[in-house]
Amino acid sequence: MDPTRDNLQIRFKAFIDGLGIFTIFAVILLIILGGASIFGWFPKGEEPEDAAGKIRSGIKSEVSAEQAKFLTEDAVDAVTPNVAQLLSKSNPIAVEVPAQLVPGSETEKKLAAEVPIDPAQMEIGKAQYLICGACHGQNGEGGPAGPPLAGSEWVTGPISNLIKIQLRGLTGPIEVKGKVYDQFPAGMLPMAYQTDEQIAGALTYVRNSFGNKASAVKPEEVKALRDEVGKPQLTVQDLIKP
Ligand code: HEC
Repeated sequence: MDPTRDNLQIRFKAFIDGLGIFTIFAVILLIILGGASIFGWFPKGEEPEDAAGKIRSGIKSEVSAEQAKFLTEDAVDAVTPNVAQLLSKSNPIAVEVPAQLVPGSETEKKLAAEVPIDPAQMEIGKAQYLICGACHGQNGEGGPAGPPLAGSEWVTGPISNLIKIQLRGLTGPIEVKGKVYDQFPAGMLPMAYQTDEQIAGALTYVRNSFGNKASAVKPEEVKALRDEVGKPQLTVQDLIKP
């Protein structure tokens, strides 16, 4: 018979020894785990932000590499010292591109005032205005056959309105300078027989005469709306409110 089996003392000692060895291993394990967590030795799963960041920096360096093909370092170095000087000379108005301007807005009017009007176009317009003047008054003051053009918000307002009025005519009540005009039975008849140059000229002329000030109208803008010809006479509801 195994003498240790029944000897309580020996069994107890073996138990204590086992406990000691277990404790030593446990302490060593704790030290290792503690150290690992303090010094960040655990392998971490990649966070989505990190993954996105890696992709971003990858794209960035691809883009820079592509750009570098077009712009040599020498070229960049050559202009860098002048940038401050060039910036102070640049005209900040260039930030506003015409495509973003609200037609008839104060900004558009302000910018338009800075673009000189072509005198040749004003000449075409002046000649053409003799017809308009028969109804609107030779100084745009209005009369029995037409509302005023001098100071009219329609005249300095959106260009597309003006072109459409020329191509389709206009009928029905219209408010000009705070006064409603409803006394013209036939309204204004279409004047689409005029050339693109004549319409652009007449409109540029009325936008820049009788105290009015607004941007020029280009013949191409008239051309672009030629498919309006033949459509029914306009009413104010068809127009953009100036
Ligand atoms: C036969 C007369 C007649 C002629 C010619 C005529 N118009 Fe008119 N026009 C009118 C009438 C009438 C109205 C108002 C229409 C209505 O009742 O809605 C008008 C309205 C207008 C309007 C909008 C209202 C305003 O007062 O701002 C503009 C702009 C305009 N005409 C420009 C012109 C121009 C530019 C010409 C020449 C190329 C011209 N018209 C020729 C009679 C005429």
